[in-house]
Amino acid sequence: MSVRRLAPAEQQPDAFAFTAENAAWAQTQIAKYPEGRQASAVIALLWRAQEQAGGWLPQKAIEHVAELLAMPPIRVLEVATFYTMFNLEPVGQHFVQVCGTTPCMLRGAEALKKVCHDKIGHERHVTADGKFSWAEVECLGACVNAPMVQIGADYYEDLTPETLAKLLDNLAAGRPVKPGPQVERQFSAPAGGLTTLTGDPAPGADDKTPAE
Ligand code: FES
Repeated sequence: MSVRRLAPAEQQPDAFAFTAENAAWAQTQIAKYPEGRQASAVIALLWRAQEQAGGWLPQKAIEHVAELLAMPPIRVLEVATFYTMFNLEPVGQHFVQVCGTTPCMLRGAEALKKVCHDKIGHERHVTADGKFSWAEVECLGACVNAPMVQIGADYYEDLTPETLAKLLDNLAAGRPVKPGPQVERQFSAPAGGLTTLTGDPAPGADDKTPAE
């Protein structure tokens, strides 16, 4: 893992505070834990802070969470810098996370990274219009549909360089896109159609009458 540092001062906002809605939600998270153990809510609060800040964690957001949880800011910073799901620099409106772990790598992730590089720029660079950035990440748990990327909260799977390029073009143009497998298969069902349970059910198998 590379060194993870806070974004430079010129990118940092002057202040951060939860919206009233998020502040109320934060209290529900804190209330889940016994008195004195409110630090257990740190990841949930950091995650909500990242969402509110547009996909990354400014220093002021980390300090705000520390204050809410009565934690030393350095302890919250340790969590934010340890877990790579927390972005410490601004990301694009469409943040493309390319899985580069072994199953995706064997199925073509390197070519997907090249598409991102060609269309968006170098890793973690935000395009001038603020629309895109990308980063390589570790396994996102959709290996059966490798190679895949996560954009925002959605997974796009069974990608080729061509389908990823088209996906990015559609997002750039504001056209609708379809999350999930980008080939003709449902979820992680076999590509190319069913390979089992293709015949007629055994006689009586669809009889729902309870046995006497
Ligand atoms: S290796 Fe890419 S999703 Fe698991």
